[in-house]
Amino acid sequence: QGQSDFQLPLAGRKVTISAGGTREPLDPVRFLGNRSSGKQGVALAVAARNAGATVRLIAAHMDVPAPAGVDVVRVETALQLREAALAAAADSDVVIMAAAVADFRPAEVSGTKIKKRDDTADPVITLVRNPDILQELVEARSAPGNEAARRHQLIVGFAAETGDGQGDVVAYAEAKLKRKGCDLLVVNHVGTDKVFGQDTNSVVILARSGAEPQEAAGSKSEVSAAVITRVGHELNHVSP
Ligand code: CTP
Ligand code: CA
Repeated sequence: QGQSDFQLPLAGRKVTISAGGTREPLDPVRFLGNRSSGKQGVALAVAARNAGATVRLIAAHMDVPAPAGVDVVRVETALQLREAALAAAADSDVVIMAAAVADFRPAEVSGTKIKKRDDTADPVITLVRNPDILQELVEARSAPGNEAARRHQLIVGFAAETGDGQGDVVAYAEAKLKRKGCDLLVVNHVGTDKVFGQDTNSVVILARSGAEPQEAAGSKSEVSAAVITRVGHELNHVSP
């Protein structure tokens, strides 16, 4: 607080960060989920808070507690996360989508527990697409009426890529950055034993501006500090 705030790179800035993995209900006791631990999003929230920002953490399911000194909104599903993110974005300088958002949700949610029965066929789960929240945030920023207020809003996506026979990690990430239209995309290489739930990470930060990809590696806190430093540079229109 006080005078020292003026030295902090994100002093006076409002930063919204989504974290953790969404859970899409099938019935009152079951859901479709993912392996996101929330550690990266929490580390980002801590880094942004330490950089002087006012932080709102939109927390889907996390294996770790939310940090002190940030405003926490708990959500469960992608649709709830979407509502919270769009609302928070309205007055945010920065929105970082670190949450693992389910791409699909069950088309129908049973109001009562689904029972196994011998007299009916095995159930088939039909899935429908969830909205792409990151893309909607980018659209909302430039929607009529919002341009002036949010012209300088910075939107950051995270991408988990494995690469496959069709393309490598960076090639997929560059296509994703273009598709999403966010300003920065923080890309990491994932496998079942990599990144999820781990404390260390190695990322490449791609920029829509076409700036050279920036690499950052280390603990999730170190990677987060690098991302937040880069965010500060972008807000102040300084190249990294
Ligand atoms: N994301 C989102 N809404 C979704 C899915 C993803 O906002 N419905 C965000 C994530 O929070 C992340 C970024 O988009 O910041 C990239 O997520 P990712 O799953 O890598 O991208 P997808 O477009 O879902 O592509 P893929 O088919 O590779 O899963
Ligand atoms: Ca996805």
